[in-house]
Amino acid sequence: MKKQVNTTVIIKSRMVKILKLQSALNFSHTLLKEIVKPGDVVVDATAGKGNDTLFLAQLVGERGHVYSFDIQAQATQLTQRLVEQHQVEQQTTVINDGHENLTNYVKSPITAAIFNLGYLPEGDHKIVTKPQTTLKSVQSMMKLLKPNGIIILVIYYGHPGGKQEKEQVLQFAKSIDQHQFNVLQYQFINQIHEPPILLALQKR
Ligand SMILES: C[S@@+](CC[C@H](N)C(=O)[O-])C[C@H]1O[C@@H](n2cnc3c(N)ncnc32)[C@H](O)[C@@H]1O
Repeated sequence: MKKQVNTTVIIKSRMVKILKLQSALNFSHTLLKEIVKPGDVVVDATAGKGNDTLFLAQLVGERGHVYSFDIQAQATQLTQRLVEQHQVEQQTTVINDGHENLTNYVKSPITAAIFNLGYLPEGDHKIVTKPQTTLKSVQSMMKLLKPNGIIILVIYYGHPGGKQEKEQVLQFAKSIDQHQFNVLQYQFINQIHEPPILLALQKR
């Protein structure tokens, strides 16, 4: 009797993953996603329309907490509304105050903080972050940061005063003791129109 042979044809689909270099803003989220875990305490230093606050609130979950700062009531209202729409208000405190006053509100160690320097898009372009208050806040955060925790600054500098802030922040970042922090600078260097710079300060 003739033996029947079952032939299984295996079709292997080739999965090709293409890595594209990310914008500074997208790269900030990639870094946060890697570092922030459920239950962590984190800071959004420049709430604006609340995009980073929402992203962080979803990462920390109900056991964690996000402290979100902005000096403009318009920004804190937009952020609070976004937080409520996505039902993450339990783990979020939106604060209408400057990030330089951080230590009045945040008492526990933090895993991450994010700044988007510059002005509120579609808001008043004259209300911008300032080097003195930005650096005061960064220095407070460096003390509160847990080992391996990260402070990210996405620096927009095309507006009046922006270049001075960029220079002062970069000068400070370069002076940080390498035994205490690893400091990364990320930027497309062949783009016109002042592409944003990402700085990441990771505690060792
Ligand atoms: C580039 S926007 C932030 C955009 C925001 N991350 C978003 O997702 O929409 C910068 C924000 O920083 C705020 N700001 C300026 N100085 C500040 C300060 N000292 N403390 C906190 N926020 C400040 C501005 O009001 C503005 O809303």
